[in-house]
Amino acid sequence: MNKPLRKAVLPVAGLGTRFLPATKATAKEMLPVVDKPLIQYAIEEARAAGIEQFCMVTGRGKTALVEHFDIAFELEATLRQRNRVEALEALKGTQVEPGSMVTVRQQVPLGLGHAIWCARTFIGDDPFAVLLPDDLVLSHTPCLKQLADAYRETGGNVVAVVEVPREHTNRYGILKTGKDDGRLVEVLGLVEKPAPEDAPSNLSIIGRYVLMPEVIGHLAKMERGAGNEVQLTDGMAKLIGHQPFHGLRYEGTRFDCGDKVGYLEAQIAFALARPDLADAVRGFLHKYMK
Ligand code: UTP
Repeated sequence: MNKPLRKAVLPVAGLGTRFLPATKATAKEMLPVVDKPLIQYAIEEARAAGIEQFCMVTGRGKTALVEHFDIAFELEATLRQRNRVEALEALKGTQVEPGSMVTVRQQVPLGLGHAIWCARTFIGDDPFAVLLPDDLVLSHTPCLKQLADAYRETGGNVVAVVEVPREHTNRYGILKTGKDDGRLVEVLGLVEKPAPEDAPSNLSIIGRYVLMPEVIGHLAKMERGAGNEVQLTDGMAKLIGHQPFHGLRYEGTRFDCGDKVGYLEAQIAFALARPDLADAVRGFLHKYMK
């Protein structure tokens, strides 16, 4: 029997340099898509996959992320007094079970692998999910739920993967693929940001993972990879051949909200998916498409 998946790590300690000046005094993960910050989408997706314990890996200037999941006593009292039922309802998704969310600090952003290693005490001996909040997935079944189901099926590491244009392989972690049934693909190797001519495929990892705790031992060696950072991809690559490792072609559309164009596209796609906004948005889009 596989150990149940109950824990998620959300690394949010990056500098968000591609979004300066917006991210000078605000965390990138607090940027909203329509009316909800990226971090809340990630927490809600994790919950929908059965996650009960959350660990945010934070850094300097990220306190708003913690505040967001706390009770805003004065605000809520005022809304209650004014009988603002809808506004109170909108706050529901920000409530977490007392004691279910912890934060650890990554004092220096040395890379995603280092950020995950910072959560090692929280992870302990359990399998865990990783969600990068700047990757947003619009899907029928929440993306992490799809991964959690695949974990139950395969009993090992599972990462969400998508085909990318070959000229973009140098932006992502790329798979060397084995057996492939069109949905689940066996992972034979992983390379972080390979040049298109060196890339073993064009299947890229997106910011959703289910990992076994043994990855921490490999990350602890603090070996520097692409960009001189401690890369999660390099730590995961060491598990291949020792544990099941699969890529899952998830159902849904991923938006890279760490990138300006991806972020703008997410705004439009998520607004069009909202019954209360779709008509108005479609209406004004026509104006700009002329
Ligand atoms: P990115 O590669 O998007 O980096 O990190 P970034 O610093 O956030 O943004 P740019 O590239 O400077 O604009 C992907 C995820 O990993 C986290 C980030 O917070 C983001 O959720 N991360 C990255 C860390 O927590 N620590 C790190 O050292 C690096």
